[in-house]
Amino acid sequence: METLFDNCRPLITSEEIQDRVRELAGRISDDYYGKDLLLIVLLKGGFIFLADLVRNLTIPCEVEFVTASSYRDGVQRSIEVEIDVNIKSNITGREIIIVEGIVDTGHTLANLMRELSERGIQSCRVCTLLDKPSARQIKADVHYVGFEIPDVFAVGYGLDFMEQYRNLSYIAELSPASPDATIRRELVKRPDFASTAAEPVEPSVIPSEGELAEKHRRQSRFRMDK
Ligand code: IMP
Ligand code: MG
Repeated sequence: METLFDNCRPLITSEEIQDRVRELAGRISDDYYGKDLLLIVLLKGGFIFLADLVRNLTIPCEVEFVTASSYRDGVQRSIEVEIDVNIKSNITGREIIIVEGIVDTGHTLANLMRELSERGIQSCRVCTLLDKPSARQIKADVHYVGFEIPDVFAVGYGLDFMEQYRNLSYIAELSPASPDATIRRELVKRPDFASTAAEPVEPSVIPSEGELAEKHRRQSRFRMDK
């Protein structure tokens, strides 16, 4: 009997993902030590990545969720993106990392960055598990990348095809049986986290010295030894 998983070619194993998520979380914990970090995750694709990422952070953080729908017909691309930034908390002056499952054309990120920058945030970087740089249509700086992949349609670990496959613990390429699947696995890269600089966002509200000192005092008690 044919199943949903018949045309899935494994691209990144569960172990490879977990190793890389630990590396990403370690780097973010160092970069944001003593800062007031807010992670904003793009639903639905980023939900499993976020859950693993936050459990590997050694610094405090807050989490918010936003929903993005890019009107796709299956694997077809469309540049129409609708973002629901229904964030109740005040994000003015916050240090933000957007957490994404995959960056493809870049339109979703570009739209979200625009929305956030209008709210006077302090800084914004992007952390994505997967990046398809060859599919980019609009500039979108991504600071923390788990894996760079070729321009294939990826599913699993939160990513879907028509709402299916999100529950796979690994990343697979969705394709008809293809003899070059092994070659594509070799094209998966783990780029240097700092290879692209985050766009600075003009600060509109800067916390007072006193507020910062108090935050650092609280956070230094929280931090666990690695
Ligand atoms: P972008 O706006 O083209 O960068 O696309 C971002 C969104 O499209 C992601 O958040 C995913 O929901 C979806 N997407 C893009 N490429 C893939 C893929 O290979 N597999 C699954 N979803 C994808
Ligand atoms: Mg989708």
